[in-house]
Amino acid sequence: MFVRHMTAADIDRVYEIACGSLEETYLREIFLLFINAWPAGQLVAVNAFGNVAGFISGAKLASGKASVQLLAVEQRYRRMGAGSRLLEELKFRASMEGICILQLEVREENADVVSFYRKRGFLPAERLESFYNNGGCALRMMCSVRGNS
Ligand SMILES: CC(C)(COP(=O)(O)OP(=O)(O)OC[C@H]1O[C@@H](n2cnc3c(N)ncnc32)[C@H](O)[C@@H]1OP(=O)(O)O)[C@@H](O)C(=O)NCCC(=O)NCCS
Repeated sequence: MFVRHMTAADIDRVYEIACGSLEETYLREIFLLFINAWPAGQLVAVNAFGNVAGFISGAKLASGKASVQLLAVEQRYRRMGAGSRLLEELKFRASMEGICILQLEVREENADVVSFYRKRGFLPAERLESFYNNGGCALRMMCSVRGNS
């Protein structure tokens, strides 16, 4: 599994993974907006056969921060390290652009994913009530991207 930039040609596949893996609904067009806004922050994980297994979409925020907007790996490719590789590569690319903090929001009740991020250096910073369309709460988590493995 290796990680490379997401291009416009990947969008159909990325959208398919997003629809199959994420609970919220997204427009396909969002990925082109992400690519145009921050090309280096859009990455895909590709297996040895060239198949896109997962993706990460980052966005630059104000004051030296960036966010993980979306991260998903297709079910059949999970637990092979793709999600970790995508996160590490986004941290690296963010640090190369002088970004100090990476933040994200995760469903509070999704203990497996909260634990996934904790193990990868993210700490809970804030609880956001009614963050999701169904009224669910989010945990905002933050990670320093300088000197973090
Ligand atoms: C979270 C996600 C991206 C991890 O991708 P991945 O390629 O399986 O990640 P890795 O192989 O690098 O690591 C697997 C780790 O994820 C954990 N994990 C995360 N979510 C999990 C879930 N729903 N079920 C089981 N394990 C999960 C595993 O326990 C494992 O933990 P460990 O290595 O710390 O022991 C993937 O599970 C996914 O796409 N989930 C659905 C979408 C989602 O929840 N995205 C995050 C939204 S904030």
